[in-house]
Amino acid sequence: FLHKLVLGIETSCDDTAAAVVDETGNVLGEAIHSQTEVHLKTGGIIPPVAQQLHREHIQRIVQEALSVSRISPSELSAIATTIKPGLALSLGVGLSFSLELINQLKKPFIPIHHMEAHALTIRLTNKVEFPFLVLLISGGHCLLALVRGVSDFLLLGKSLDIAPGDMLDKVARRLSLIRHPECSTMSGGKAIEHLAKQGNRFHFDLKPPMQRAKNCDFSFSGLQHVIDKTIMQKEKEEGIEKGQILSSAADIAAAVQHTTACHLAKRTHRAILFCKQRNLLSQSNAVLVVSGGVASNLHIRKALEIVTNATQCTLLCPPPRLCTDNGIMIAWNGIERLRAGLGILHNVEGIRYEPK
Ligand code: KG4
Ligand code: ZN
Repeated sequence: FLHKLVLGIETSCDDTAAAVVDETGNVLGEAIHSQTEVHLKTGGIIPPVAQQLHREHIQRIVQEALSVSRISPSELSAIATTIKPGLALSLGVGLSFSLELINQLKKPFIPIHHMEAHALTIRLTNKVEFPFLVLLISGGHCLLALVRGVSDFLLLGKSLDIAPGDMLDKVARRLSLIRHPECSTMSGGKAIEHLAKQGNRFHFDLKPPMQRAKNCDFSFSGLQHVIDKTIMQKEKEEGIEKGQILSSAADIAAAVQHTTACHLAKRTHRAILFCKQRNLLSQSNAVLVVSGGVASNLHIRKALEIVTNATQCTLLCPPPRLCTDNGIMIAWNGIERLRAGLGILHNVEGIRYEPK
């Protein structure tokens, strides 16, 4: 008895990742190469640099995922690859590589939407039926959606400007946390979470954004500017130069983290009430899935838990390695699409990738 087997390939941002997953959700093999260290040094992702790194590693990563899984490529049912959204130059590397492989192996191709893959990941680890709510929060994503089926999403809210992880990264950079002895190897968001534990959030009075907006959208750039100004003022008060670490850095981190958590929780609360009022979600056992790098923040999770407890919802988070970008979620999305009979291309001759 042969299960369906899908090879997933992900290169939308700064991770080169691949995995082989079977129909039942078994991960047979996976490999990932992260560029985080390189991008931390340059203070952000430079797309041509990311592209070059994907090119250098994709062959090895796909090979590794396949050899760990101990299958022969001829046993694959299909190859699934992220085609959007993401950095065009990065996406192009994964797509070109996949198309070559497909032509070589004569396998069907499943184009994957990166956000759909993030949203469906929970169904690999937990028995979650449609519909459910999903909140995706990372350095590049910020959206709240009702997932009604494998390819049936109702977008309820999104960030009008930057994503929460992007904001936390910018604040961490502005606070020079990379030079902080305890946080030098952490991502911006993780550094903020770490420092916040030592701080007092009541020392700074930050207001959650969009308190009056009657929708489920988010905004983080206003908050970022307010924090920027606060930091500038503190630098003057403490008489320190740009680049040195403020003595009030931990208090600022605590206030930023808490305000972010409040904002995310309040908008999510609105979405839950909206869906319940319209009977789009179960009244008694609705599920909220939270994923993305920012979802690993325990303070933010606690704030969301308060909301789900108050609305009789269950809060679920994929394990950390599945919350961030990975090949498993792409392969799993391929399996979900195969099972639903959706979007499988048997002839990819017409598809070509041309970067803008
Ligand atoms: O999902 P991810 O690895 O990559 C994408 O952005 O797609 O998320 C990375 C983001 C970064 O902005 C990072 O600062 C943030 O997630 N992050 C955190 C934490 N760990 C990572 N934000 C808040 N608290 C954390 N513990
Ligand atoms: Zn992602």
